[in-house]
Parts: sequence; C-alpha cells; structure tokens
Amino acid sequence: FGSMAGSVQRNPRFSKLNDDDVRYLEGILGSKNVVQDEDKLVTSNTDWMHKYKGSSKLLLQPRTADQVSQILKYCNSRNLAVVPQGGNTGLVGGSVPVFDEVIVSLSSMNKIISFDKVSGILVCEAGCILENIMSFLDNEGFIMPLDLGAKGSCQIGGNVSTNAGGLRLVRYGSLHGSVLGVEAVLANGTVLDMLKTLRKDNTGYDLKHLFIGSEGSLGIVTKVSILTPPKLSSVNVAFLACKDYSSCQKLLQEAKGKLGEILSAFEFLDVQSMNLVLNHMEGARNPLPSLHNFYVLIETTGSDESSDKQKLEAFLLGSMENELISDGVLAQDINQASSFWLLREGIPEALMRAGAVYKYDLSIPLEHMYNLVEEMRSRLGNTANVIGYGHLGDGNLHLNISTSHYDDKILSHIEPYVYEWTSKHRGSISAEHGLGLMKANEIFYSKSHETVQVMASIKNLLDPNHILNPYKVLPQSLIS
Ligand code: FAD
Ligand code: MLT
Ligand code: ZN
Repeated sequence: FGSMAGSVQRNPRFSKLNDDDVRYLEGILGSKNVVQDEDKLVTSNTDWMHKYKGSSKLLLQPRTADQVSQILKYCNSRNLAVVPQGGNTGLVGGSVPVFDEVIVSLSSMNKIISFDKVSGILVCEAGCILENIMSFLDNEGFIMPLDLGAKGSCQIGGNVSTNAGGLRLVRYGSLHGSVLGVEAVLANGTVLDMLKTLRKDNTGYDLKHLFIGSEGSLGIVTKVSILTPPKLSSVNVAFLACKDYSSCQKLLQEAKGKLGEILSAFEFLDVQSMNLVLNHMEGARNPLPSLHNFYVLIETTGSDESSDKQKLEAFLLGSMENELISDGVLAQDINQASSFWLLREGIPEALMRAGAVYKYDLSIPLEHMYNLVEEMRSRLGNTANVIGYGHLGDGNLHLNISTSHYDDKILSHIEPYVYEWTSKHRGSISAEHGLGLMKANEIFYSKSHETVQVMASIKNLLDPNHILNPYKVLPQSLIS
C-alpha cells in the first residue's frame, strides 16, 4: 500500500463497534445483510487502486431508504462513523474506511423505478450500476448523459456523489445539469425527498446540488432522477495523430466550430500513455502504421448519417490539409470504434498493471496544460514514467506518474509541486475525481478560506457529529 491514512489520526470521539451494535443493526437489516466475515470485508476495505486500506469490521447492505435512515439514526446516536460505498471505483481514497468506520454499501438498492419516454427522465435507486442503466436505456432508445471507463462497476449514486465527469461531458454537461432530483438521507436519519422530475423548479435553494459532488460527506444518496438524451442513429469515432500538443489544442477549436452540435467526445493521450496501453492491455493495438507524439479520439453523435459523415470527413480533410493532424483513421464498424475507445479507456487499468501510480486529476487552462506534464518529466528524470491524457474538450488533464513501487522520495518531488503549479495557473486540483482522503488537506489550493469556512458550516449543520465519511473532503482541523 502507498499513502494510506498518512498523518490522519483516528478521531477518539467515535465509538468502537460492540456486539450490541451488531445485534441492533441485524434487527434492522436481517443478519445476512450485516457482513462481518473478514474475507468479504477485505474487498470493501480496499480501494480500486489498492492504495488505501481501512480496517472496518462491519459492512451493511440496506435495501430501502428507510433502512438507510434507521442505520444512520442509530450510528449518529452511538457516534459510530460511517463510510457510504457505491461501486468502490473512486480514485481518491474516498470510498473506503480510513480506520474502523462502518461501511454502508448501496449495492442492494439497484432497482430502476420509472422511465418516462416522452421526457427521457429516469428515476432509479442509487445502487444501480451505470452499465446496467445504459443497457436498460438502450432498449428504450435513450442513453446516459455520462459514460466512464468504470461503468461496469460504478453506481449512479457514486457518480452523483462524486459529480463524475467522464467521456460525454463535453456534449451533455455535468451532473449538476442532468440530475433533476435526489433522495438523500442525512446523518440523523432524516430522509430528504428532493426527487423531482422537473426541468424547472425555482422554489428557493436547490439543495440537491449539495449532494452532487459532496462525496458522501453530507448524506447518503438513495435515489436519483436524471434527464437522459435520446439515442441518435449515427455515431462515428475517429482516432487521430498529432505532432505536438499545440496541434491538439487547435484541433479542439476546429472541432468545436466545424463539428458543432454533433461533437460528443474529444479525448487525448500522449505517446507515453499509448505505449502503456499497448504494452499492458490485451487486445490493444495501434490502428496507425507508426507512433506519433499525441493522439486525439473524437466521437460524433447525430441524427443524420449522411450529413454527419460529410461534416466529419470535411473536418478531417481540412485538418489534414492545415497539418493539425498527421494521420488518422475513422472506425468502419462498432468493433473498430470499441478498439479505439479501449486505447483511451484502458489507460487507468494499464497503469495499475504497470506498478504503482500517483494520480492527479486537474483542470488547467488549455494553453498551459501539457507544460505541467513536461515539467514533471524533467523533474523526475528516469525515476518514473510520466504520462498525460484526459478530457481535453473539458480542459481536464489526467497527469499520472507510474513507478515500480511507492516511494516517499518520488512523492516529495511531485507534491506539493503539482498543486502549487495548478493553483498558480488558476486551475483546480480536482477536476472530476473529488478530494476524498487524498486531497482533503489540499482544498485551499483551489478554494478560498472563506469558501471552505462556509463548507465547514454546512457540514456542521447537516452532520454535527461528523459521522459521515470522516477524514475526507474537508481538513480535519476545520470540523473537529
Ligand atoms: P465509490 O467509489 O464507491 O464512492 C465514491 C465516493 O462517493 C466516496 O466518497 C463514497 O463515500 C461516495 N458515495 C458512493 N455512493 C454514495 C451514495 N449513494 N451516497 C453518498 N455517497 C456515496 N471519474 C470521473 O469523474 N470520470 C471518469 O472518466 C472516470 N473514469 C474512471 C475510470 C476507471 C477505470 C476508474 C476505476 C474510475 C474512474 N473514475 C472516473 C472515478 C470513479 O469511477 C467515479 O468517481 C465514480 O463516479 C465513482 O462511483 P462509485 O459507485 O464507484 O463510487
Ligand atoms: C479517466 O478519464 O480515464 C478516468 O478519470 C480515470 C483516470 O483518471 O485514470
Ligand atoms: Zn477522467
């Protein structure tokens, strides 16, 4: 394990779990939904990267919002700390306990409640796996407004709680726009019904937004209503090569202007990322005859096959002529399109297979973005493989530093440099993954003291005993 709890100390105000607690919770959930088996707990105590590991002795699997309410009411009265857990694909150590927090898993709350074909509004429980919702919608002729590499495991409740961005944000915007309502349970067990299915509702403060992106620190999301776009008939995917970063940037500008409303993804990866995927992911192969410094994956989605294709071809031809792209290939069928997507979506998995990884998820003004990758390369020399990829269309860089093993000396060359650099360029130290445990203490690089103080007041109001996801999101010093 790499950086675990680090300098965080267990808050002594939290109680330790005892046999009476377990018996009480079994009374609420039934004994089969109260898991104490150590082998089963190992998975839920360990994060996706195998970097953070807690020591919880109890995993709860509620089936209804009422059960979540009873659990939280009890834990709050007993001062037992709780970590809400979805698909456990989070990348900032937010979804696993730091110490002995009780894990509340939403996995059993996985029902689709309703879908309205006229409005495209879906209502479902928080534990629905993203890919399952996607298949459901596909049958109905709709798609999810978000897609991400973790779709096979992540849950919509986790997506909402992290305000996940992903591969379609450039087209459909963030979950703050497409989530129309949530049901959430507060630390004291109060169920907040904000499960509206309306596009417009300006009746006072829109509190659902507090639960979008608050990483389980303000409540447990139990249901979600979300606006889904129709599935359009024509989807095209192009995998393009660029000679330098500046060409990628200009290509984005061109794509926005020339592809306009049909642009549905604009992703980039550098050659170091490409090599990593080619070396570690089965089935990955370079669709172009040689390697290039940068690659851009463009997807278009529209309703008119011939005009969409015409637009895309004209854009590609123009970009070849003015030398923004040095080579490229347009997927001829769905299998080839998936193989292009694997080159981009496979990077996080390839990084895991390559060894240890230091992950940074940054928003940086486009013109400066890749300078940071280059600076890190010169700072770290041959001690690490520095790679850059991400959602270029959203100004989101994934800077990843791959090494054979975790090493504090290497870490000291990365942090706080990366955060300082990002802050200096008026970027964000978390574009889409959240703060979790990893960056709770770094929040000031992106938010003012006054703003963080208001956040702490909201936390104190909604969770006065701080039982919900302790040690995460906000610095401990502010809320204890
Ligand atoms: P978890 O990992 O279980 O939890 C994440 C956080 O949300 C934790 O703080 C947890 O306490 C809280 N939480 C979970 N469920 C609830 C709930 N019901 N109520 C309250 N709090 C809850 N992220 C992106 O933004 N864009 C990407 O493109 C992207 N790609 C990824 C690709 C891979 C291969 C992987 C492994 C991860 C990726 N991620 C991405 C990160 C991660 O998948 C997302 O953050 C995802 O939304 C987390 O969902 P989850 O259900 O796994 O939540
Ligand atoms: C991605 O875009 O691939 C995800 O956010 C995961 C990652 O950053 O590695
Ligand atoms: Zn991402």
